[in-house]
Amino acid sequence: TKDWNGIDQVVLRSPLGASVKVSLHGGQVTSWRNDRGEELLFTSSKAIFKPPKAMRGGIPICFPQFGNCGSLEQHGLARNKIWTIDENPPPLAPSDSHGKSFVDLLLKPSEEDLKCWPHSFELRLRVSLAADGKLTLTSRIRNINGKPFSFSFAYHTYLSVSDIRYVVFIAVWLTPFFEVRIEGLETLDYLDNLWQRERFTEQGDAITFESEVDRVYLSSPNVIAVLDHERKRTYVIRKEGLPDVVVWNPWEKKSKAMLDIGDEEYKQMICVDGAAIEKPITLKPGEEWMGCLEIMVVPSSFCSEG
Ligand code: BG6
Repeated sequence: TKDWNGIDQVVLRSPLGASVKVSLHGGQVTSWRNDRGEELLFTSSKAIFKPPKAMRGGIPICFPQFGNCGSLEQHGLARNKIWTIDENPPPLAPSDSHGKSFVDLLLKPSEEDLKCWPHSFELRLRVSLAADGKLTLTSRIRNINGKPFSFSFAYHTYLSVSDIRYVVFIAVWLTPFFEVRIEGLETLDYLDNLWQRERFTEQGDAITFESEVDRVYLSSPNVIAVLDHERKRTYVIRKEGLPDVVVWNPWEKKSKAMLDIGDEEYKQMICVDGAAIEKPITLKPGEEWMGCLEIMVVPSSFCSEG
């Protein structure tokens, strides 16, 4: 089918009715719905579905650069390019396709791209949807250059949440309990983009949201969870080859300054990205790197989690 922009997109469906949409623009997942038809990723109502920028939402792919530290455009070129369907991908482990609905996409640099980033690569992305609704993204990057190159990578995942500001007060502890929280990043070091990438150590029990957040958590565990008590939903994020986790929410002031997000929409989203940023990946000629992200939604209740 076509996406909003007339660009080809692929729709994956599970037997129980979950679905995923992937656009050839950026290889970007633009929608992920559970078997009740509920959207699990955030997309802004003001999103601009027009190349050459990634639309605000879903899962844009940041490669070969994250942010603006480097010679390329913000978050690199991959999210702004038109990818192709890879008809003949090199095989992955059988478990990556067994019982799943999937598509393989491919990005190779054009002559124009090589002028900006003079390294020949093949970026393969498999997006798969399991029968139970689990979403998996597997990226493989191969150096087909004569020389080594280094890159950063992130799955810039916009999760849809109830309202990051919701707080309940639990009488016994007399402490505010934020209903949307990230678990698994406590005690880690992070680079704070709001403080010139200075390094800090996380002090909280869980990550909660009371103002703008723009951080790269370093050397994180391979499983983290985003809890949303209001919606009784937990996103379980499992990653491989991606040591860092970006957490971003623009909050009120920054949202107002951005054209493609509504003034109030920051309340309904957080970006939690599996990423490789602090220590760029280096590939020698002929070498390949793989980075995999799996997201699953499990029901949660206040009592069982609290
Ligand atoms: C985050 C960055 O991951 O992405 C932020 O850390 C940035 O600094 C945000 O503002 C969104 O980037 P963009 O280019 O999609 O507007």
